[in-house]
Amino acid sequence: MDIVLSGIRPTGKLHLGNYFGAMKNFLKMQHENNCYFFIADYHSLTTHPTPADLHGSVKQVLAEYLACGLDPEVATLYIQSDVPEIPELYLLLNMNAYMGELERCTSFKDTIRKQPDNVNAGLLTYPTLMAADILIHRSHKVPVGKDQEQHLEMTRTFANRFNRMYNVEYFPEPVAYNFGEKLVKVPGLDGTGKMGKSEGNGVFLADDPDTIRKKVMKAVSDSGPTEPNQPKPEAIENLFSIMRIVSTPDTYTFFDEKYNTCQVRYGDMKKQLAEDIIKVTTPVREKIEGYLADNAYLRKVARLGAEKARESASKTIKEVRSIIGFKEF
Ligand code: ADP
Ligand code: TRP
Repeated sequence: MDIVLSGIRPTGKLHLGNYFGAMKNFLKMQHENNCYFFIADYHSLTTHPTPADLHGSVKQVLAEYLACGLDPEVATLYIQSDVPEIPELYLLLNMNAYMGELERCTSFKDTIRKQPDNVNAGLLTYPTLMAADILIHRSHKVPVGKDQEQHLEMTRTFANRFNRMYNVEYFPEPVAYNFGEKLVKVPGLDGTGKMGKSEGNGVFLADDPDTIRKKVMKAVSDSGPTEPNQPKPEAIENLFSIMRIVSTPDTYTFFDEKYNTCQVRYGDMKKQLAEDIIKVTTPVREKIEGYLADNAYLRKVARLGAEKARESASKTIKEVRSIIGFKEF
């Protein structure tokens, strides 16, 4: 069975894009593969969060993963900082990671442009930590978007370099897990581009119904079509795209026909869209709130995950140490 691994940085709340674009696929995957899903809290230290923020974000993401339906009995769901074997592998991989290749990494160049006052070694070696995350379970597949492809490529470089250096075939070459052609892309509410955490254009799973209504009513639209059967401008197409994802086919067809006959009223359409989003998010939001109020359960999940993750991680580290030459006399 393939080993599938994905990590999420605890930097904000999950939005509809994460839900339909990633979580829904994770739910299917967990039954078809040996899955590891982890919260990348070490990675988030590169931006120096306060202890309270760090702790709160990790808790939020864990509650959200569970609320979406990740099953801690089926998949291994863990917090990165609970697995000390990861930083150990990170240290070992760093010995063969070169300044040049780390400095050339696009995400490093982007980040130092954005935070020139905090160019720390953690940022430079972000790809080595990510490689350690992946290689610690000798993962085969990593379900990530295009923006992570370069990190994955570096992981393959580090894995191959290790294999070559010690003349072993120890680490597999991890590849991106593509969900096929039908990758759902959820657009944002600001008229252009996809929904994202930092863009301020998203609906979060944890948003209450009133917040969702306000956000959707404020979504960018226009004064409506003036001629029948015209292509939709991007902002309008985006509203219809979200509707296609959250509403019934009948609802979608109803408004599509209204659009094509120039009778669409965006106020009505947005009202309907908001209610259909609320229908999707409400059960998830209620579960998030339930998990957030149940520290004992979250602790249990984290402990179980750490135990399962460490079982696999300690096996890898033991073998890696022996390959490198750390052996008992
Ligand atoms: P964000 O834009 O919120 O920072 P991330 O980059 O952390 O999102 O993405 C986490 C996962 O969610 C990725 O697998 C990504 O492909 C998916 N995802 C994020 N935004 C969207 C979106 N608008 N539509 C579809 N999938 C998305
Ligand atoms: N770098 C990823 C992101 O920014 C998060 C991440 C860290 C990750 N370690 C990983 C993703 C390992 C997949 C595998 O989204």
